[in-house]
Parts: sequence; C-alpha cells; structure tokens
Amino acid sequence: MSVLKIVILFTSLLHSLIEAEVIYNGSSTAKDDWWKHTAFYQIYPRSFKDSDGDGLGDLNGIISKLQYLVDAGITATWLSPIFKSPGVDAGYDISDFRDIDEKFGTMSDFDRLLKAAHDLGIKVILDFVPNHTSDQHVWFQLSKNRTKGYEDYFIWKKGYNSTTPPNNWVTRFGYSAWEYVAERDEFYYHQFTTSQPDLDFRNPKVVQEMNDVLTFWLDKGVDGFRIDAIPFIFEHPDFKDEPLADDYQNYKPYEYKYLKHIYVRDQPESIDMIYQWREVVDNYQKQKGGDTRVLMSEAYSRVNIIMQHYSNGTVEGAHFPFNFFVVTDTRYNSTANEIISPIKKWLQNMPSGHVANWVLGNHDRDRVATRLGVENADGYNMLIALLPGVAVTYYGEEIGMENGAVTWEEGQDPKACIGPKEDYLRTTRDFERTPFQWDSTVNAGFSTANKTWLPVSSQYKTNNLELQSKDGVKSHFHVYQGLMKLRKEDSFVFGNLNIEALDTYVLAFTRELVGNDTYAFIFNKGNYSSTVSLSPFKSVTGNVTVVLTSSNSTRNAGDTLPSGRITMDAHEAIVVKSPSNVSV
Ligand code: GLC
Ligand code: MG
Repeated sequence: MSVLKIVILFTSLLHSLIEAEVIYNGSSTAKDDWWKHTAFYQIYPRSFKDSDGDGLGDLNGIISKLQYLVDAGITATWLSPIFKSPGVDAGYDISDFRDIDEKFGTMSDFDRLLKAAHDLGIKVILDFVPNHTSDQHVWFQLSKNRTKGYEDYFIWKKGYNSTTPPNNWVTRFGYSAWEYVAERDEFYYHQFTTSQPDLDFRNPKVVQEMNDVLTFWLDKGVDGFRIDAIPFIFEHPDFKDEPLADDYQNYKPYEYKYLKHIYVRDQPESIDMIYQWREVVDNYQKQKGGDTRVLMSEAYSRVNIIMQHYSNGTVEGAHFPFNFFVVTDTRYNSTANEIISPIKKWLQNMPSGHVANWVLGNHDRDRVATRLGVENADGYNMLIALLPGVAVTYYGEEIGMENGAVTWEEGQDPKACIGPKEDYLRTTRDFERTPFQWDSTVNAGFSTANKTWLPVSSQYKTNNLELQSKDGVKSHFHVYQGLMKLRKEDSFVFGNLNIEALDTYVLAFTRELVGNDTYAFIFNKGNYSSTVSLSPFKSVTGNVTVVLTSSNSTRNAGDTLPSGRITMDAHEAIVVKSPSNVSV
C-alpha cells in the first residue's frame, strides 16, 4: 500500500469518527411569539427611496416600497432615526423625540406608513436614541441657561479653566468629550459629536422623559424599539481620568482607542435602564393588549456584558441584544472554525429560554459584501438566515450591495469629518450608507434629484434589484427570497443545531428535528474547491437533495448528491435535505 493510500485511509477513518457538535438544542417555544423567528430588515431612511426628488430618502419613499419587503419575504423592519434633527450625525442627533423631521415627511406620513405596513403584515420598529439629544433640543437650550428644573438634564462639570476640561475623557469619534459653555462657565459631556450632549440618567426627570417618549410612540402603534448606544447611557460618577489602553502606542492621543474606557462604557446602571424600559413596554402591553412590543439593544461589548442585556436572571431586559460577533470576529480570510467560534460564543453564553439573533451589517460597518467578499455574500446571508432565532438584514445586503465610493469632499459622516483627512478611509461610515440600487435608471431609481445626499454607487448599472429579480436568473436576491421561505420550515424554527468545520474553509451545520427532514448547510468560503463528507452529521446518510444554492453555484435545487462525498466549489454555499429516518 502506498503512503498516499494509507494517509487517505487514515484521514477518512478519522473523519468518520468525528461527530459534529450539538451546540444548540431546539426549542418548542421558538415561534410562540411573533418576533422570535422573524427576519428584521433595517431601513436606512436617508438612502432607501426618495419620493420628492430632493436627493434624500423619505417616508413616502418607504411607503412606495413596502410591497418590495413583502416580495422579499420580510415581515418586520427597523428604521434608523426619522425624528426632528439638524442631521449632524445623520439623525442620531434628535432635537424633538416626538416629531418627524420635515426632510422625511410629516407625522401623518408616518401614520400612513405604519398603517400601510401593518396592513401588509409588516411590523415597524423605531430607533430609540436615549443617550443624548441634539444641542438644538429645547432641553439643552434650557439647561444651558440653567432654567429651573432643567439644570441637571445634561452632564455639566466645572473644568480647571475654560480650556482645560474636568478629565481626559474622549468621544467615540475621538477628541475631548467635554465642551465649554461660557453661559454656565461649565463643560458638558458628549460621548459622540459636540452637537450630541449626553443626557444625565442619574436625574429621575430624564428617566421619566425618555419613558414618556417610548409611550408616545407606543400610543402611535409602533411594534418596538431598537435602543441606540447602550454602553454609554451612564458614566462613572467619580469622573476620574481613564487610564491608557494596553496598546495605546498603536493610537494617536486624540483617538478613542488610546484610552481604556472603564468609566464611560458599560456601567452596570446602563444595563439596569434596559430592564426599566422593558417594564415600560411590558406594562403597556398588559394595559393595552396587542402583540409584544420588542426591544433590541445596540452594544459592542464583551459577551458577559451583552448577555446581561437579555436578563439578570430575575428581571428581563432586551428581547435580544444585537449579536455583532459575526461582524466583529470575522474577516475575509477567516477559517471555518473562526466563523464557528462567534456562533458558539453566542449560543453557549445565551441565558436559557432566550432567542438568538444574527447580524451581518448595519449603517456603522463596512458592507458585508465588501468586508467578507461579494463572492461570499450569499454564503453569509444563508448562514445567518438558517441559524436558530432572529436574522437581521441591513438594506442592500439582500442584493449583495458593496460599499459605495464617497470622496472626502462628498462625505457626510461626522465620525470622519471631525478627524483628519488621512484617517478618512478608515473612519467614514458613508461607504455603507449609499442609496439602495433599485434599477438601471438614473440614480439607480433611488431619486430623480440632480444630486443625491450621498452619491449612488457606480456599480448600480450591473448590480441592482431589477436585474436580480428577473425570472430565471441566479441572483443574491433570489437566494434571499429562497432563504426567507426556507427558514420557515419547522427544522429551522425548532430544530437542533449541529456544527462542524469540514475543511479549513468549509463550514457546515445541520438543523435537525425529530420526524422532519434534516437540512444541512455547507459553505466553502475558501478560494479553492474542496471535497467534503457530511458523515460527522449522524442524521445525514445516503443521498441528499439540493434545496437552495448560492448564486455562484452550478448546482440546482433538486440535484442529488452523495452525502459522503460532495465537492464544493470555491465560495459555493448550498443547503441540502436528507429525508427523516425517524417515523412518527
Ligand atoms: C449608534 C449608531 C450610530 C450613531 C451613534 C450615536 O452607535 O448606530 O450611527 O452615530 O449611536 O447615536
Ligand atoms: Mg451617556
């Protein structure tokens, strides 16, 4: 026997011994409430659809495209801020929490949007931005001149003098987090831009105000809230300097990462606020009835902190905190095990009885097709749609939109604009915010304006929804539609999850439910083809049938493959089905 043959024999023997790990036990309650198995679609209103030709997306634009969400198979959407705002941080600087910004339309447009969405069976979630207001908000104006009752709405502190702030804290976007106001001879604290003063949540009046904001929108009939910037709600009350980061040498002193954020981030009180907001929405439902109003919290924190967003064991918090670990812990070159690791991290740390969720991108992160490869875009969409729980899609991901090109001169994002030009490519978030590519007409069908708020990506002529929707074409969009249907199968809703790296760059998992077909997802994200066996999955045997493929696959639904030997092309992803061998 040749050495090669022995090696082959040995590896296949070894392989048949490997058994895929069960990392999630299915749940029989996975669908007993509307949000638990829903795909949430993030609309970035500025860039979705412009109805009035001013170059900026608006509410009527969204209304005109609600049918598109239905066609895509989406039943819930969350909208980035549409409230009154000077627009310094693209609407995350709110000057009236209870009004719609005229750039987006009117309150009656919003009412119509909500009604139209509900009529189509689409839930609407709003962005709740409690940490800060705009400096144009009346509360800040009143606080600035110490109007009685408003003095302590924000975080005011004496500095050493008018140019030396109380401590070394910097903003999330870099530079001092303190701004001097001569009227009070004090500094106010802002974790984001100077136009976004932080509210002081140690003031019970502020807590009440923000609860009232929730109730205002609940009364309008919204289905829940995405809660912005949780880690920053509270600051440590001692206001001491923050220490240098362990790797501070890698950063410039004005940069966020220069310091270790032990006083401005993730204070336990911030998580407690989520519990209080949960009480607000739960009580509302108790009193007024209707479906569960859902809370999803935004934080990039360590896993042990994130998991407390769900619950502290006694009190419930967010229905789910966004799971950004697939975004933050993977790169273009990640191996299969490096992708499995954040998946396990979530499922193995999640408190029992809670619902997982999977996010690939948002308005703060490079587009997934750019970051992880457009050739892998379907594979990643399939991955997050077929794992247990909620899937979250950022507008455009369903058509594999890539980062747009925005020059420094065209840039809008303050995160980049307040820094030096040399940091621009690294810091701007405008690339992932360019308008949705609807069709091949002018401005990709997004707007009739001469100039859109951010330039439409020049890729729109070759990549747009219209092209991808044509009958018979293999496209990201058709894959996405297929996924939205497939994930409704009981095996994906209620089934166990077994996961295994079948090769360095080939990841696979099964969703298994007694009495139902077992589905296996196989994703070769590597640059070379690879022949794998599904033998680690004990419930997959014999021949399997293809049910869905990535758009770059040469296979088709209905093809039959031997489960012991499947050659996956580079960047190919497929879902196969193995008939149930248990009769019930
Ligand atoms: C969140 C938003 C981001 C915004 C920031 C300040 O992180 O996602 O876009 O700049 O909060 O509100
Ligand atoms: Mg704060």
